[in-house]
Amino acid sequence: MQFDVLTLFPEMFSSLNESIIGRAKKNEQINIKLINIRDFSEDKHNKVDDTPYGGGAGMVMKPDVVYRAYKSLENKENAKVIYMSPQGKTLNQKKVVELSKEGHLIILCGHYEGIDQRVLDKIVDEEISIGDYVLTGGELPAMVLIDSVSRYVEGVLNKNSVEEESFSKGMLEYPQYTRPEEFEGIKVPDILLSGNHGEIEKWRKEKQIEITKKKRPDLLK
Ligand SMILES: C[S@@+](CC[C@H](N)C(=O)[O-])C[C@H]1O[C@@H](n2cnc3c(N)ncnc32)[C@H](O)[C@@H]1O
Repeated sequence: MQFDVLTLFPEMFSSLNESIIGRAKKNEQINIKLINIRDFSEDKHNKVDDTPYGGGAGMVMKPDVVYRAYKSLENKENAKVIYMSPQGKTLNQKKVVELSKEGHLIILCGHYEGIDQRVLDKIVDEEISIGDYVLTGGELPAMVLIDSVSRYVEGVLNKNSVEEESFSKGMLEYPQYTRPEEFEGIKVPDILLSGNHGEIEKWRKEKQIEITKKKRPDLLK
């Protein structure tokens, strides 16, 4: 899976070198290319933003600079271009699975007051939000997208992990326990120590329904 990220702050993405995503990069199951939009400024001060037409607070990222950064990408014709934006559709597991089948995503990160509408209209296929709140930039949302989508890329995780997890079958996951058998006087449920896989499966299903009803009844509707 190829992720091309257009950003003014590529250094922020160093956290993706850690843990499971870091390993997926090393194993070449995913490839993340970071493109610094500032490199495409033709201004002698490397200017990438300007004041908004019509007045108002803040700065707007310039369309020509963003467009040049986009045009520098290879194989962009078959890629889906996503603009991380609080105005987009809120990301959920269904969308994550859908995007994991894409093969090549170009992710555009805004900053300041956002990006000039003309270049968005020209290159963006879809706007995605990570929730109804406003962040300072699209970098954290882009990392959320890359992390969640990568988990569904073949080989990144054990198949059972993604299939049994919260939201995968419209429900939350059952509770998990590990050693020690007793912690602060609280024992692991006996059924999990029984070795009876059929009964364990049944117990987990019951717990899934119970937990979903309690925490997210909306998912059961
Ligand atoms: C301060 S925001 C701009 C908000 C914009 N002026 C508005 O009111 O819709 C700067 C950038 O952060 C990113 N961003 C902020 N909140 C986001 C969210 N909830 N989901 C995805 N991206 C977000 C977008 O890329 C956006 O261009």
